Amino acid sequence: MDFSIKSGHPEKQRSACIIVGVFEPRRLSAAAEQLDAVSEAYLSNIIRRGDIEGKPDQTLLLHNVPNTLCDRVLLIGCGKERDFNEVAYRKALATAAMTVNENGAMDTVNFLPELPVKGHDVYWKVRQAVETTEAALYVFDELKTEKDKARRPLRKMVFSVPSRRDLSAAEQALKDGAAIATGVAVARRLGNLPANICTPTYLAEQATELGKSANKLKVKVLEQSDMETLGMGSLLSVAKGSRQPPKLICMEYRGADNDSKPYVFIGKGITFDSGGISIKPSAAMDEMKFDMCGAASVIGLMHTVTELQLPLNVIGIVPSCENMPDGLANKPGDIVTSMSGQTIEVLNTDAEGRLILCDALTYSERFSPETVVDIATLTGACVVALGSQATGLLGNHRGLNNDLLSAGKSSGDRAWELPLWEEYQEQLKSNFADMANIGGREAGAITAACFLSRFAKKMHWAHLDIAGTAWKHGDEKGATGRPVPLLTQYLLDKVK
Ligand code: BES
Ligand code: MN
Ligand code: ZN
Repeated sequence: MDFSIKSGHPEKQRSACIIVGVFEPRRLSAAAEQLDAVSEAYLSNIIRRGDIEGKPDQTLLLHNVPNTLCDRVLLIGCGKERDFNEVAYRKALATAAMTVNENGAMDTVNFLPELPVKGHDVYWKVRQAVETTEAALYVFDELKTEKDKARRPLRKMVFSVPSRRDLSAAEQALKDGAAIATGVAVARRLGNLPANICTPTYLAEQATELGKSANKLKVKVLEQSDMETLGMGSLLSVAKGSRQPPKLICMEYRGADNDSKPYVFIGKGITFDSGGISIKPSAAMDEMKFDMCGAASVIGLMHTVTELQLPLNVIGIVPSCENMPDGLANKPGDIVTSMSGQTIEVLNTDAEGRLILCDALTYSERFSPETVVDIATLTGACVVALGSQATGLLGNHRGLNNDLLSAGKSSGDRAWELPLWEEYQEQLKSNFADMANIGGREAGAITAACFLSRFAKKMHWAHLDIAGTAWKHGDEKGATGRPVPLLTQYLLDKVK
């Protein structure tokens, strides 16, 4: 989408469609008031007849509003004005984008960013407008032979801001929002691709492509033999059960001096999780193609970082393989040796994410990182605890946890902290190795993080469990691109 910013009166906009809000019950927003005033109460007369109440989800398309220069006026229901919060604002933006995309207008001036949203400035409103609009118009149809394309799709959206003084903040918001939207779309696409296409090799190719197009980004792919040399016995034990070769993808973005310590992001890249010998039940097993959404978010984030040319050093690491049952696969009770030297008893082959992440964590030590954040669709237990709204957050450093929580809040891509207390570590006790890879029925999201923490002792580390937030089920089945907005916000806060 071609986005731009403007400040001006709605009746003076030469456009195929003007988007303005209406609050419940039948209250015009400021921009709608202005259109009403020039058109001799054209809007208020229609509204009085009861065509639109202003409830969220309601829309009303008007043509030929007198004394305006636009072809159409699209009224968007925004709910009660005093309840107009972040969620309602995003909903209005999404409804507006989808409606205008269908109604034949190819360009539009959107006045929704002029609505007051409590606690938020123009920068936030415009950035959310870009991100939400792009997300609402996203379609994944590359594997459908018949595409359901709008006949005259929307190509150009101008956001109106209240005053000329807002223009520079709004321009910055446009850039940041567009880069985040790119990262989210990349992550959604990779997540949505099926496991027979999106293999570890495919992920490596995608990362390599990005490396060719961005000059500050170097991409290196470690092969099975490289990982053998490094002693990544834990990661390789998962990969052994699959015909697909494993990859360890390293994306190094250098936007600052060499002595500035990098921010490292590690994304779980299980391109299909069958459970292995501890095989999963078949219901909804197709959704385990999404088990690489952590990897997808890291690759998406690298797109965003290179697009924004952030003045930071940022490293993305993606350990990637399949988890399959096979004659060579891990068996319950097998003991493997991780790159750190610690031994692990694999009591359940379905707890494979931690087995690949632990070696990637040890590998990340060589970068002397400022912080390390891993992102993983790690546990069903996290979905039980937090549902699909909040990403689970656990970590070993108060400051880092706080930074991630606050980045989640301001980006609207929220995380919620779970305790990583020492006492939970007992659940990982093994009679035969240094630790087991599972911690029993209780507190599954926490014991998974406890396992990882044993490989992150030398760094400021946090873990984001995105099992509930990375994709949606049912009619809306598909990847969300989370937590690219949270991660980008974390980095943007470091630039300031
Ligand atoms: N990828 C799954 C976690 C998952 C399950 C995410 C369902 C989203 C929905 C992970 O590899 C896994 O299988 N975890 C097990 C761990 C258990 C064996 C300790 C789980 O959560 O059941
Ligand atoms: Mn699993
Ligand atoms: Zn998994």
